[in-house]
Amino acid sequence: MKGIVFTEFLDLVEAKFGLEMVDTIISQSELESEGIYTAVGTYKFSEMLQLLQHLSTNTNIEIDDLLLVYAEHFFDVLKQSYPGLLATYKDPIDMLASIENHIHVEVRKIYPDAELPTFEVLDKTDNSLVMVYKSSRAMHHFGLGLMNKTFEHFDSTATIELEKMKEDGTEVKFIINRN
Ligand code: HEM
Repeated sequence: MKGIVFTEFLDLVEAKFGLEMVDTIISQSELESEGIYTAVGTYKFSEMLQLLQHLSTNTNIEIDDLLLVYAEHFFDVLKQSYPGLLATYKDPIDMLASIENHIHVEVRKIYPDAELPTFEVLDKTDNSLVMVYKSSRAMHHFGLGLMNKTFEHFDSTATIELEKMKEDGTEVKFIINRN
């Protein structure tokens, strides 16, 4: 997992819960990196999982809810870091349908070692999109947060339903309807 995911996560934890919480979750985890991340580095996903688990225990907030809020913050980071990628799109449904064949393809060019999910489009109309998320990281709520923010970016909203195709969340169907 790319360092930018860790640095932005820890910044958000500091902003929402304070520096003490950052120190607590780092010291409760067993981290090869020792909790020192650079944006361009690459670190084990298991480090993120430990940080999330400890944050969840210490705050009593479910991991999925933490991922949802984190994704909303991360979207703003992506928007600032890659304005050109977003500027290609005029419509949120077109943009979300293009993650697999365009957006993440570009990401892979910037970070060849990025660990990205796959999104398979099953059905698309002007106002709806059905796609299947697959990733061993089961970060579907991170995807949900990014999707919500994508609609917001285009001054729009949507109703998004998640249907787990595998109990462990490694395969999830997203049913997206523009409001
Ligand atoms: C992960 C870039 C848009 C879904 C990531 C990562 C980067 C990235 C750098 C981390 C990879 C790693 O740590 O190795 C971008 C950029 C975008 C964009 C530059 C737009 C300009 C989106 C959108 C979605 C999405 C709109 C909506 C569903 C995800 C998910 C992950 C991810 C779910 C977590 C990894 C996983 O589940 O396996 N993306 N992304 N991305 N992205 Fe994107």
